[in-house]
Amino acid sequence: MQKYCNLNLGWRFKEGFKEEYITGGNDEEGRLVNVPHTVKEIPYDCFDQTMTCMVSTYIRSFRLPDMEGKRALVSFEGVSACYDLYINGHKAGSHKGAYSMALFDITEYVTAGGNRMVLCVDSHERSDIPPNGSTVDFLIYGGIYRDVTLYIQEGTYVKQALFRYSLDHETAVMEPELLIGSHGPKRELWAVTSLQKDGAPVWENRQKIQVSPGTGSISLEPGHVGQVALWQPEDPQLYQASVELQDEDGRCVDRYQTRIGFRTIRVEPDGFYLNGKRTKLIGLNRHQSYPYVGYAMGRRAQEKDALLLKEFMGLNMVRCSHYMQSRYFLDKCDELGLMVFEEIPGWGYIGDEEFKKIVFQDLENMVLGHFNHPGIVIWGTRLNETTDHDGLYQETNRRCKAMDSSRPTTGVRWETGSHLIEDIYSYNDYSEDDKGEHMLLTAHQATGSTKRMPYLVSEHTGAVLPTKPVDSEERQEEFAIRHARAMSKIMTSDQYLGGLGWCMFDYNTHNDHNSVNKVCYHGVLDMFRVPKWAAYLYASQKSPDKGAVLVPCSMVGRGERCEPVPFYVLTNCDYIEVTLSNDITRTYYPSIKFPGLAHPPVLVTENGEFWQHRWTGARIVGYVGGQAVAEKRYSDNPRLSQLLVQPDDTVLYNDQVDETRVVCTFMDEFGNRLYHHMEAVSVSVSGDIELIGPSLIPSMGGCAAFWVRTCASGTRGTAGIHIHTSRPEIDGQTVTIRLELSGQEG
Ligand code: GAL
Repeated sequence: MQKYCNLNLGWRFKEGFKEEYITGGNDEEGRLVNVPHTVKEIPYDCFDQTMTCMVSTYIRSFRLPDMEGKRALVSFEGVSACYDLYINGHKAGSHKGAYSMALFDITEYVTAGGNRMVLCVDSHERSDIPPNGSTVDFLIYGGIYRDVTLYIQEGTYVKQALFRYSLDHETAVMEPELLIGSHGPKRELWAVTSLQKDGAPVWENRQKIQVSPGTGSISLEPGHVGQVALWQPEDPQLYQASVELQDEDGRCVDRYQTRIGFRTIRVEPDGFYLNGKRTKLIGLNRHQSYPYVGYAMGRRAQEKDALLLKEFMGLNMVRCSHYMQSRYFLDKCDELGLMVFEEIPGWGYIGDEEFKKIVFQDLENMVLGHFNHPGIVIWGTRLNETTDHDGLYQETNRRCKAMDSSRPTTGVRWETGSHLIEDIYSYNDYSEDDKGEHMLLTAHQATGSTKRMPYLVSEHTGAVLPTKPVDSEERQEEFAIRHARAMSKIMTSDQYLGGLGWCMFDYNTHNDHNSVNKVCYHGVLDMFRVPKWAAYLYASQKSPDKGAVLVPCSMVGRGERCEPVPFYVLTNCDYIEVTLSNDITRTYYPSIKFPGLAHPPVLVTENGEFWQHRWTGARIVGYVGGQAVAEKRYSDNPRLSQLLVQPDDTVLYNDQVDETRVVCTFMDEFGNRLYHHMEAVSVSVSGDIELIGPSLIPSMGGCAAFWVRTCASGTRGTAGIHIHTSRPEIDGQTVTIRLELSGQEG
């Protein structure tokens, strides 16, 4: 499809809805807002969980050129949770579902020149729309939170091209399928399909097609591509794929472009095989929420989450719990080689026939809409943690397979012994004992069957031990070690295809699932994506060539638990040397208790110092191949010495809403995070950026983090972020942000 422009900027927003808004009136009374947008910003915690449950109105004017013989279409990639669309006073469509994309043909309602679009959005948690119906353990927020795009098309256009292929070893045969929309008489066109790699042509195929009026699918003749470079987690090779519809004179009628990757997937009871190689799936579950603005975060923030998972924590899979996520996130997963398990929206509830219609609509939206992402390797065709509902799940599985036979299906259960309809039996395993020493059921226990079947642990660990960034050393350490135990067990046995920890970061939720403050602390990162020690457990499994990790699960001092030991050190070093408050240095090796881990945590056990002697500080050194590669020093008298201010980015685009995060860490003179320092940072901004959330931000676990976003005013320049604290020795820092233009407005 031919994008005409984005419609992300310059909406008028009003809380509530009145019939008279449809036909016009005082649009200027509405607040001027940009997409991504949330109907209401919420506090970090302790808010009314119904705050974003409301009806609201979005109004936008747009201009069109002469439309003779052309079609106008508009797409909404994500609006929570349902809406009616009006164009120039006429109802042009409606959509239910917070996570699915909708495309409307608005040709009959528009004119050349000025037009007016009104969206009446309902963000109540309606039990007729998945995932709602029970007390869901997350919020659905509300508003237009993903891109809005306007297309101007010829009468015939490619709504979607599914770049199907078959692969024999590394030799590919393309079998593209086109979903075409066409108006006017039946016509004959050329479909020119091509592949490029890094801009160089790889393959092209021209074929005549007959296009009938309406919407239909056309499968093109298979085309032999020859040898291709595979998409693999460690080397994710991507190709640019396109299809152009041309008329008899070779004139382009429409063009559709995307990226694809070649890989094969096979599941067996003993493993998940990617490109024929057994690959253990190790990852985390991800929600798509952020503090204050819920889902309303754009491209850069989405991409950053993928980077955290793959580059920082070294994981190879993410589960998009419990709904379809942003294409920006998925694109980044494709680029990084992060495998994705994506599922339809749902949480513990199946509604009536109307509800089920939306389930099928979501399924189609997910499978066809995200078909070309090579990163997606598993489709989830059940609603998370619903009981067996064989009729429904036979149907979702059948429909999914009919649209895409190349990927395995699964469905996530909380019950053992449920019926396996899909290819993989997935189970959320929170069966650990109170001490967390015995973790995870066997595949036989979870599936309730003696027959071996492909079995995936779709959630583990987090829910049983909510851990706040301000919790004690023991709690934070235990949280990390339970992730280590689960992962070790998963790695050692081929009965598990893999395991996906619950979850990537803390999130806002309903009162039924929180610490009486609307925050669920199950993340290995906090809500601001600041790591807890558990995140370093994952990071420490990376090879030391990617950087040494040396993170003690301790503040390394005497006061927190009388004795400084025992504590684990999360590290990818071969061994560590520890000197605690005296001159005796001891060497410690990775623990034998985690046989499945590439780099098990190292337990530091011996004290070696006497409590009546003055604590003189400590030193931990990590060695790889006999060389010291990392060192940590601990003071005898730690003082607040530094506020480390780290922006994720210092260049932002000001022709769209672009955001970046800033993390402020309170540190002692050796650069150690002062976990229990209580302080707030006061933040103000200058120039064309705004702060997301409040301007006074308390530290949590020694860090205070926040995001800023551009005002999207379309100008270049600089902006400043000014940070103050109450402590004169570290007060007063400014981060300068350069504002650039991306050339892709809104
Ligand atoms: C699971 C559920 C998740 C989350 C988790 C932690 O049962 O699938 O969405 O709620 O428990 O409480």
